[in-house]
Amino acid sequence: MRETRYQGPAIGIDFGTTNSSLAVITGESKVELASFPTSGGSTLSFRSVLYLEQVKKAGGAKQTLSKTGPTAVEHYLEAEEKGRLIQSLKSYLPSPTLTGTEVFGRRYTLEELVSRILSDLRGHAELQFGMPIRHATVGRPVRFVGAETEDDDAYAVSRLRDAFTMAGFESVDFEMEPIAAAYSYESTLDHDELILIGDFGGGTSDFSLLNVGPGVRRRGRTSKDLLGNSGVGLAGDAFDARIVRKLVSPALGSDSYARSLNKTLPAVPAWIYANLERWHYLSFLRTRNVSEILKSARLRALEPEKIEALTALIEEDLGYQLHQAVQQVKFELSRSTSAEFRFRDGSMDLRIPVTRSEFEEWIAEDRSVIERCVDSLLESSGVGSHEVDRVFLTGGSSFVPAVRRIFASRFGEDRIQTGNEFTSVARGLALRAEEAMMTAPIQ
Ligand SMILES: Nc1ncnc2c1ncn2[C@@H]1O[C@H](COP(=O)(O)OP(=O)(O)OP(=O)(O)O)[C@@H](O)[C@H]1O
Ligand SMILES: [Mg+2]
Repeated sequence: MRETRYQGPAIGIDFGTTNSSLAVITGESKVELASFPTSGGSTLSFRSVLYLEQVKKAGGAKQTLSKTGPTAVEHYLEAEEKGRLIQSLKSYLPSPTLTGTEVFGRRYTLEELVSRILSDLRGHAELQFGMPIRHATVGRPVRFVGAETEDDDAYAVSRLRDAFTMAGFESVDFEMEPIAAAYSYESTLDHDELILIGDFGGGTSDFSLLNVGPGVRRRGRTSKDLLGNSGVGLAGDAFDARIVRKLVSPALGSDSYARSLNKTLPAVPAWIYANLERWHYLSFLRTRNVSEILKSARLRALEPEKIEALTALIEEDLGYQLHQAVQQVKFELSRSTSAEFRFRDGSMDLRIPVTRSEFEEWIAEDRSVIERCVDSLLESSGVGSHEVDRVFLTGGSSFVPAVRRIFASRFGEDRIQTGNEFTSVARGLALRAEEAMMTAPIQ
């Protein structure tokens, strides 16, 4: 694939862990976002999910149906016999051991799975904007989930590039996601600023410290304008996992005991609960082994009703629905200081009150890691917090008040700005693509 600069249209693609979006420059620095149909209207965020289902063709032969984005979830929920719903694919890109997966007897590489999402994203945008899309500026986190070294990140980027090639792209340029968010913020400025960007998504939290503004653009950016980047592979998915561990799993017996001769032991082994924390692992628990473990646990458990609820969750394969309920309570806790976790589906009926301060205790360790990442960026770039003109927070997880407080305590509320939580990266990538075209003529 070529890596040279391409000639218009300027396109930005944010392939997110949870949501993806695509932006196009339609006039001079005028950004338009692709919108995607859903059963309830349209959305600017294309869920980064893939659904594979086996369907019978007229002659009786079986065929695998593949759906992506909002329609993937709709198909999954409607299906009598559930297929495989796969999400957070971006988080696996740095892992050399995760080469792919087998679905209905066919092996799919990770790149191929990602490419299905990218290809549909491209297809929707081509229809909407009435033009072919073969080139794009694409976002990448500073540090991918699970990546420990720059080599791991480079490996993840090369896999993402391959996925774009498979999806029909001829060339892609990569840009750091927080830098892209900075370009988006910059488009609102009438003066220059030194800004700190915090982009909190589903998989990663990313930071950039840079000079932006119309003056910087006019004189031409130099490498000195970027004072540094930092990032950590920890964000909304990790918060969800904490809610499962601390709130949901105890209601399903993770702290419960069972009688065994004259001892009491944990009713169900901890590894079963660990699989609940990543909802798409839940379907891997539908095995005879797990079902035997749960059957015997129910007989001996001091709180058998909790083990019964766990059994129902697994047997009825309610991982996706559980994850939705977890996200819902997390969203409510961003707005209110208390909420109720509600999970009613199939034979499950859980209602558990929860306060924002409990949630903040559960994520305290994650928050400290994020906090250290911000401080290390300021330290390594030699910038004092008083020198930063503005902090721009974006990404879905920037709604979490505890995340916001990291910045309020260092910079004060009046220096914080938020906005375009789900689209700023794609917008900025498109602006970046436009600028690259103007500053680097094609040879
Ligand atoms: N109101 C809210 N309160 C708390 N979290 C929220 C809220 N709205 C969305 N989120 C979380 O934001 C995350 C998704 O944000 P976003 O779409 O910015 O991520 P992404 O770009 O897909 O991921 P990444 O940038 O890590 O690849 C999810 O974890 C979601 O649960
Ligand atoms: Mg993102």
